[in-house]
Amino acid sequence: MSQPISGVLSSLERVLLDASTIQTRVADLAAEIERDYAGQELCVVTLMDGALFFVADLLRSMDLPIRLFTLTVSSYHGDTTSSGRVQMAQTFPFDLKARHVLLIDDILDTGLTLATVHERIREQCHPETLKTAVLLRKERPRVSEINADYVGFDIADEFVVGYGMDYKGHYRNLPCIGILDPTTLG
Ligand code: IMP
Ligand code: MG
Repeated sequence: MSQPISGVLSSLERVLLDASTIQTRVADLAAEIERDYAGQELCVVTLMDGALFFVADLLRSMDLPIRLFTLTVSSYHGDTTSSGRVQMAQTFPFDLKARHVLLIDDILDTGLTLATVHERIREQCHPETLKTAVLLRKERPRVSEINADYVGFDIADEFVVGYGMDYKGHYRNLPCIGILDPTTLG
């Protein structure tokens, strides 16, 4: 069932990060990455679908030669907790050998997703360098040591939606990031 944007916003218990706060931080992060990779071509591997809005805004703020590759992975399967398994293609169809690679995701939560993909890229693609960027990093224990090289915001361990992130496929188009009203979950 489709919902108008005002209806979608009213599903939030509260806004955690408003649109202009997100845009300002993403522009700062883009400037930092641009400085770090100055004079080099960057291969960005982004995880779909959650990082879609973040990567679109981030890359358009960066004045660097960039090649973009997308990878569809899932670990939440539409719920609010990680399933503990990461589903993705067995092999990577892109050539990242000896390249500078930046792996981008929306959230570092348990760390399973980023750690799994990071390991696969390292083993199968042999990049020159491999760093990671996330918009959000949740304050919680992780299943692996991965800790992201670039982080937009540190947040509490709460389930969030908006700016690309979903609950059962909804709320991705919110310009802000918020916490869902508990009565909406189910
Ligand atoms: P991890 O593997 O536990 O680190 O989970 C990372 C993935 O879970 C991210 O790519 C998100 O797609 C999803 N995820 C984690 N926390 C949230 C959340 O609060 N809202 C929406 N998706 C989330
Ligand atoms: Mg994701």
